[in-house]
Amino acid sequence: MYFYQKNMEKQGINSKKLRTVAGCFATGVSIVSVVNPAGEVHGMTASSFLSVSLDPPLVLFSLMNQNQMASYLKVGDPLGISILTQEMEGVSNHFAKMVTLNPPPTFVEKEAAPVLEDAHAWYATTVEKLIPAGDHILALCKVIDLAASPEKNPLIYYQGYKKITSS
Ligand SMILES: Cc1cc2nc3c(=O)[nH]c(=O)nc-3n(C[C@H](O)[C@H](O)[C@H](O)COP(=O)(O)O)c2cc1C
Repeated sequence: MYFYQKNMEKQGINSKKLRTVAGCFATGVSIVSVVNPAGEVHGMTASSFLSVSLDPPLVLFSLMNQNQMASYLKVGDPLGISILTQEMEGVSNHFAKMVTLNPPPTFVEKEAAPVLEDAHAWYATTVEKLIPAGDHILALCKVIDLAASPEKNPLIYYQGYKKITSS
């Protein structure tokens, strides 16, 4: 760990720079959701969502070890991923635990996975593999069912929330 940190410092790599450089990459915003041991839906905002493989159908997201969500993820369990529309900034902040919406956003069940009712698109998955990756975990998920409402516009995350404006 010590040598790794020393090496990073030599190259001028630190978490501020990593965040700044990563922040140059525009993403969408997703909500990953599971049913926790208490039987409640637990959602977490994630911009690290990535479509990985068509055959077999696999998707991925990255989550911080210390997030509550990390303690709920189990291989084989159902997990929903909802892609947000540009109207859903508040939903993103709710599941990032920055605000509390009242009433809270509504989930519906798809193949035992909770997904947001008004999502731009959703995946019902099962957790395929949990891969330790530094201070994060890569959650590789197998797609069981999916749907999209292509007529809606996605919420964009690039140095804050952005909307698509027609040129
Ligand atoms: C736009 C946005 C994107 C985020 N993306 C991620 C992500 O990809 N992975 C992650 O671990 N946290 C991400 N976060 C932070 C988590 O949503 C936040 O830490 C949340 O409170 C974790 O929830 P939990 O601890 O209740 O599971 C993001 C937050 C925002 C606002």
